Amino acid sequence: MPRPPQTKTSTRKISERRLSDVAKHLVVPSGIKTTGYPAVEAQCRKMGVQHDPWQKGLGRAILAKRENGLYAAGIGGVLISICRQVGKTFSIGTIVFALCILFPGIKVLWTAHHSATSDETFETLSALARRRRIAPYIAHNGIRQGNGKQRIKFANGSRIMFGAREHGFGRGIPGVTIVVFDEAQILKAKALSDMIPAANTATNPLIIYMGTPPKPDDPAEVFRARRKKALAIKEQRAKGDPVDYDTLYVEVGADAGDDVEDRATLEKANPSFPDRTPWESILRLRENLTDPSDWAREGLGIWDEEELGGSREIMAEEWQATEVTAVPEEGLRALGVAFSADGTRVAVAGALKHSGGSHLELIDANTGSLEEGIGPLADWIALRAHTIAQITISGRAGADALALALRERKVSAKAIRVASTPEYFAACSMLPDAVRGTTVTHPAAPEGDLLDASVAVCDKKFRGTAGSWGWAATTADGDETPTEAISLALWGVRTTKRRPGKKQEVI
Ligand SMILES: Nc1ncnc2c1ncn2[C@@H]1O[C@H](COP(=O)(O)OP(=O)(O)OP(=O)(O)O)[C@@H](O)[C@H]1O
Ligand SMILES: [Mg+2]
Repeated sequence: MPRPPQTKTSTRKISERRLSDVAKHLVVPSGIKTTGYPAVEAQCRKMGVQHDPWQKGLGRAILAKRENGLYAAGIGGVLISICRQVGKTFSIGTIVFALCILFPGIKVLWTAHHSATSDETFETLSALARRRRIAPYIAHNGIRQGNGKQRIKFANGSRIMFGAREHGFGRGIPGVTIVVFDEAQILKAKALSDMIPAANTATNPLIIYMGTPPKPDDPAEVFRARRKKALAIKEQRAKGDPVDYDTLYVEVGADAGDDVEDRATLEKANPSFPDRTPWESILRLRENLTDPSDWAREGLGIWDEEELGGSREIMAEEWQATEVTAVPEEGLRALGVAFSADGTRVAVAGALKHSGGSHLELIDANTGSLEEGIGPLADWIALRAHTIAQITISGRAGADALALALRERKVSAKAIRVASTPEYFAACSMLPDAVRGTTVTHPAAPEGDLLDASVAVCDKKFRGTAGSWGWAATTADGDETPTEAISLALWGVRTTKRRPGKKQEVI
């Protein structure tokens, strides 16, 4: 347990620390030209609220705008990983109040996973709304209690609605411009995609995800994946690469390996301690967090060491968005064949290019056919080769042998392409771009589908210095070859000039 502070909190000077001193990771959106914070700060002053230096920095970053006047983090949103009792509710709450007052008639959705958290936030912000200098901005009878109905309404028509995601609150509410996801470490992609369309219709939406580092079994796919992406962007920028980024990522916390019982660690993690958050509040929190690793995460904002937890480049919601039940039949066909580095696994995929894009399907993966040699695979492909524009093969362990076996079976040399390393990289990066641009589709598959399982654990593995990358599975039993195979099939169908069946192509 950290030792109590030596001086009384009331006599201490408010922390002078700025956001950049406080944040362990601060990854800002690109293209920032201005910020909407000064107006918010002025409004806060009228409400008798004075932000501390780090909170001002946070406000400036959240409300940063691009040249077009829209929020720079308007697309990816604002992600804040921060420990408990640091002033999340206060900081974001006062900013949201000021925005509600400055922009009449706006709708804000404030959700937490648990109703206990949501109720507590509503209580805290109701108390704020009743303050002498804030109450005049609130509508008559503007504070409404009641399960699932809690809201604060301002005199100018703006309102904040509160509710818990565990009870399905927040789906399909139209006209929302600001969404706050509290407890963002408990947020599944599905819940997110159910709620986000509500804000998508707004011209200048602001979506704030805030939470503590997740426990191992928290459904934190959204939070983990976005943090990972932010850290990769940070790394790229450190190398001098000015990458585009439409998200703000702020991580406040102590470092892994810090002594969790040391008071200095607490001060490092929590810029509001002890000036704003008194020792008693920390003690109360600690009573509920007896396990040191819970304390490290929630009390000190320390993320667990990155385990082989299965990270993914293509997010579940992105992948789902390209699912189809009706499969196109007419079009140009290509195959992709990916061998694993050790040659023990292989996956075969097909791509069909039609007028609306390309359809991708996994045909077979890791069926053990390699134990019988690549003969059966070559037979299977050769039988269909006359309908196929290109067969793109990667993986040194099997590519040349398969190419040879295909030649022996009279498959046109022009149809066989053993991908060079740059071609392999090009194929890999083509896939996420195509998924995001929804220019590809794949079949909706039942639970346990090999392609879905592969995409779910495949992430970028950077090779060399030029930023090129290939697919790698991020779990011990994950298989990258199905994702590679569809990437190769897509690349082949898009780049080949062959049109099978034409006279000059006949062997
Ligand atoms: N700028 C400030 N001015 C006045 N009080 C502040 C300021 N910043 C933080 N506080 C105070 O710090 C305390 C902790 O803030 P808050 O309740 O918002 O923390 P939190 O991070 O939401 O905590 P929890 O994780 O428990 O929900 C509150 O008493 C809040 O009023
Ligand atoms: Mg709070």
